[in-house]
Amino acid sequence: MKSYIPVLVPKADGVSRVQQVVQTFLNAVKEKKILPGDKLPSIRLCAKTFNLSTSTIASAFDTLKDEGVIESERGSGYYLSASISPRNRPHPARSRSVSQRNDFTKPIDDFWLLANVYQADDSEFHSVGCGWLPPTWYARKEIKAALRSTARQEHVDENCYGDPYGYQELRSYIANHLVERSLSVTGDQILLTSGASRALDLISNTFLNTGDTVLVDEPGYCNFLSSMLSKRIKLVGVRWTQNGPDIKQLEKILAKENIKFYFTNPWLHNPTGASISLDVAHSLLNLAERYQVTIVEDNVSGDLLTPGSISLSALGGTERVIHIGSFSKTVSAGFRVGYIVAAQNILSQLMKYKMLSGLTSSLISETITLNVIKQPEYRKFIKALRSKLTQAQKEMALFFQEVGWECFCIPAGGYYIYARPVGSTVDSRIISEKAKNAGLLFAPGYLFHPEHKASPWIRFNVAYCQEKKKYLYDFIMTTKNQ
Ligand SMILES: Cc1ncc(COP(=O)(O)O)c(C=O)c1O
Repeated sequence: MKSYIPVLVPKADGVSRVQQVVQTFLNAVKEKKILPGDKLPSIRLCAKTFNLSTSTIASAFDTLKDEGVIESERGSGYYLSASISPRNRPHPARSRSVSQRNDFTKPIDDFWLLANVYQADDSEFHSVGCGWLPPTWYARKEIKAALRSTARQEHVDENCYGDPYGYQELRSYIANHLVERSLSVTGDQILLTSGASRALDLISNTFLNTGDTVLVDEPGYCNFLSSMLSKRIKLVGVRWTQNGPDIKQLEKILAKENIKFYFTNPWLHNPTGASISLDVAHSLLNLAERYQVTIVEDNVSGDLLTPGSISLSALGGTERVIHIGSFSKTVSAGFRVGYIVAAQNILSQLMKYKMLSGLTSSLISETITLNVIKQPEYRKFIKALRSKLTQAQKEMALFFQEVGWECFCIPAGGYYIYARPVGSTVDSRIISEKAKNAGLLFAPGYLFHPEHKASPWIRFNVAYCQEKKKYLYDFIMTTKNQ
């Protein structure tokens, strides 16, 4: 017998797509259109009929299952529970709770951010705080062409682990292009990694021990801070200003603490969007030399900088500065390709740990990445992407001014802008929770502090904000005097 497919109820304001689907089925149960023991239509059929993604339908079914409304049978599908007892009878208020997977009822913390932001699809809510671009902003044509040409290349089919340093042709290509950032290296000084995340992890695992103290930007990249804390590394934050680290504070810290590494994201900084100025960069390198500190320059957004931009590694040399790059912010975060540039003695130690802890990086991802970036059209794409982001930065700076907020700085490009209601000292977790209930995902400032101290600032992604400006505007205006 065919399963009954209800008509999708209209989507109310502030209600997610998942909740809309849940409500649709609850109504059908209430109206006895679906009876205990009846089979539900498949996820795929619902997705097609409702014109929603399969992950939205799957989340809605998970919710109904958690509520005891439906049951699943392996390989056979979903059924309305045989007995809908008072305990599991659909209750409109309770049915608004969502599954474990996308649990918007939990408070925002760094793991909430990871779990929800990385798993939710765009139909769930507006990810105005996330760390990647809207799908249409990527070089989709070039990526498709690269996938096709990769399939024709024999070396990806050879069924072996590949070079411990990573795909040699990609390393040479990166080396040639780093000249544009005044970094003169060969492919032998490059180690490919699974994104900048793995590069950070390799460096910290190779050179740090439990109990060591390292210097970090404050605020700084939240995943990295949390991962260091989980390894029981002590973090000392140096205040991040519009021009980079606060040099006076940095000097005091270095004089007092035994610090051997400073992990910094000096260009198009996450979360503030600010870039280090040249004079601060020089002062930083002088201090690093004096106190024998190795700088780890996480330049994950380096390709979004205008050509000719300098790097700390170019200024301070590859013995003093370990440089990290990535293709996550430009080509695709999904390919997971990043790299480390360092002096050979450092790089060989990192390669050893890379192999011991996970063997080689993915040759197929590295080949696809090279096949994307070597297309002449990709050069045009990157140029256009940089100016699109610069334009979005300007627009959002104006937007925040118009709604009575202030920005930490006006970034020259990149994804992020850091903003707060003018002069606010209120912990931005409060407004972020409200935003979450209205279907907007903010990244509240406390996530970016080593000790999670309260912050009034919020990180926004200008590309998503530009697309979702209306929702953001309505939300800010409605909550303004609450
Ligand atoms: C500062 C910083 N470092 C590292 C990463 C991780 O990048 P990847 O996706 O290349 O691992 C990110 C991602 O947003 C980031 O913002």
